[in-house]
Amino acid sequence: MGVLAGKVVLVTGGGNGIGRECALIAAREGARVVVNDLGGGIGGDDEGSAGPAEAVAEEIRAAGGEAVSNSESVTNMRAVKGMVEQAMDSFGGLHAVINPAGILRDRMFHKMGEDDWDKVIDVHLRGTFNVCRATIEHFRDQQDGAYMLFTSTSGIIGNIGQANYGAAKMGIAGLSRIIAMEGAAKNVRCNCLAPVAWTRMTQSVPVRDEASAKRRETIATLIRADQPARFSVAMISDRAKDVTGQIFGVSGENIILYSQPRPLETLAKPEGWTIETVLDEAIPKMKDKFYSLERLPVSAPPPPAAASAS
Ligand SMILES: NC(=O)c1ccc[n+]([C@@H]2O[C@H](COP(=O)([O-])OP(=O)(O)OC[C@H]3O[C@@H](n4cnc5c(N)ncnc54)[C@H](O)[C@@H]3O)[C@@H](O)[C@H]2O)c1
Repeated sequence: MGVLAGKVVLVTGGGNGIGRECALIAAREGARVVVNDLGGGIGGDDEGSAGPAEAVAEEIRAAGGEAVSNSESVTNMRAVKGMVEQAMDSFGGLHAVINPAGILRDRMFHKMGEDDWDKVIDVHLRGTFNVCRATIEHFRDQQDGAYMLFTSTSGIIGNIGQANYGAAKMGIAGLSRIIAMEGAAKNVRCNCLAPVAWTRMTQSVPVRDEASAKRRETIATLIRADQPARFSVAMISDRAKDVTGQIFGVSGENIILYSQPRPLETLAKPEGWTIETVLDEAIPKMKDKFYSLERLPVSAPPPPAAASAS
């Protein structure tokens, strides 16, 4: 029997990439699946299509599983409530949400238009709010619910050209943490995942030189969408019932547990800080603990005391 036997799972963005693998693997593990996907382009400019979600639902049914498709947008609360109703009407319940729906509109911040900002925040942060808000009361009432939300190292570490995306993804990490805290007494769990996988999203990043083209060939076979998907399915299962409030990463066969910000150093001055003492005392005392602007390899973080970035 699969780890999701008896469960009903909503997978958003389930028509492509990591979401598609989540839907297929969840179904193989016994879940009945609502496969949602707008079926749009990477930048979220078009109306979308019902094709990708239905193709994945059909693939599940053809393999003997149970699935229905939905091609609405996670940005629309009414539509998201419709996904929940669809789960209830089709399968009589809902126990978990995996939410990888996403778009990219990369620009340097000084060239970023309001539309680039709004669209990315809308799909990632507002979309995550919508799917969680539309399901949380049901999960609390039945004292059974698990979320796997999708964050990114572009937010938790930072990445040039992705201010909109990084802000949304860091917001999702904060939202996830608080849903986990508030849900603890009601058996509602929430974790988030910063995946790395070769999908159409990563393929859209321009190749700069021959070396990066070669690196891509290797990445395509080693860093696949099924790896973060398998982890996501494991985390929404009852076998992970004690796991909540965490930020994980999956890159190939590396599983990463991320740190979460806590104070590194506190300096007190009972008589009060002046501009001079801030500059002359506080900053020099803290300086050796500052994080640099470098991105470190995600698989090998240094111990916090020696960290220069993370
Ligand atoms: N691939 C990576 O290396 C990587 C790295 C960091 C984070 N992520 C995150 O993982 C998640 C999955 O990424 P992916 O690489 O599989 O991307 P993908 O582009 O292959 O799949 C994303 C899917 O979301 C769907 N979608 C977009 N807007 C939607 C909306 N409004 N409503 C419903 N569906 C919508 C798209 O149609 C698409 O099928 C995303 O949240 C992404 O930000 C991916």
